[in-house]
Amino acid sequence: MSKIFCLSCHRWLYATVSLYHQCLFLLHAGGQYEYILVEKRGEKSNVGFIQLNRPKALNALCDGLMKEVGLALDSFETDGDVGAIVITGSDRAFAAGADIKEMQNRTFQECYGGNFLAHWNRVSTVKKPVIAAVNGFALGGGCELAMMCDIIYAGEKAQFGQPEILLGTIPGAGGTQRLTRAVGKSLAMELVLTGDKINVRKPTYELSLAEGNRLEKRLFHATFATEDRKEGMTAFVEKRKASFQDK
Ligand code: CAA
Repeated sequence: MSKIFCLSCHRWLYATVSLYHQCLFLLHAGGQYEYILVEKRGEKSNVGFIQLNRPKALNALCDGLMKEVGLALDSFETDGDVGAIVITGSDRAFAAGADIKEMQNRTFQECYGGNFLAHWNRVSTVKKPVIAAVNGFALGGGCELAMMCDIIYAGEKAQFGQPEILLGTIPGAGGTQRLTRAVGKSLAMELVLTGDKINVRKPTYELSLAEGNRLEKRLFHATFATEDRKEGMTAFVEKRKASFQDK
């Protein structure tokens, strides 16, 4: 499924969202899901519906929430009755990004060694069409989550942005790559470098060599945060075998 970044106001989708309370059918009876609401919708119950549900944190994407999204997607992918999947949030927030409180004290080693955020990619590997129904804040990881979907329907209050620079970091779940394809290099750079929020409307395209090289360069730079990079280069200069500590 090619990725389409199609932003427009489709009222029918939000009418569907507002029907939520009329036909709630929890796939996991007993409330196993803590951070999301999951049900099948439509006359034929053939739409898998996932609503992010951490209102007090503006649907910040904590680890538990994204694991639950992965489980719900697994279940809809294997459900022969489901033809398409919708991921949505609330009027105020689709998602305000990865959970900053959860990330605050993580170290470089934990992030790199644990391949932090790698499991988020499940959203982009689902074989059935996945639609993001976005209103309110879609920031940082929230914008990235929407862009992992095949189609984005954006409401009038939708605000997209990659404000990671304001936290002293960079997008970590495809923002630099998918946003560039969605809105072009110039606007993507502006958004990533300023942290500004916008409403957007553009098509997507594939990774270029230059972009891949830029990503590689940044990861290369990241190795300079490690003690082992210093030790390896110092050992070379001192003509001895490096003593790596995995730090
Ligand atoms: N993580 C954790 N908690 C968050 C959050 C986040 N990303 N965004 C909002 N919250 C929490 C706030 O801490 C606050 O909780 P408390 O009441 O317990 O303090 C609650 O949600 C409401 O937020 P605000 O009071 O800040 O609401 P606001 O209306 O004044 O501002 C906002 C809304 C502009 C979205 C602001 O909350 C904000 O800037 N949030 C952070 C956005 C951001 O930087 N996202 C990127 C995160 S990094 C990332 O995503 C990396 C990646 O690439 C994966």
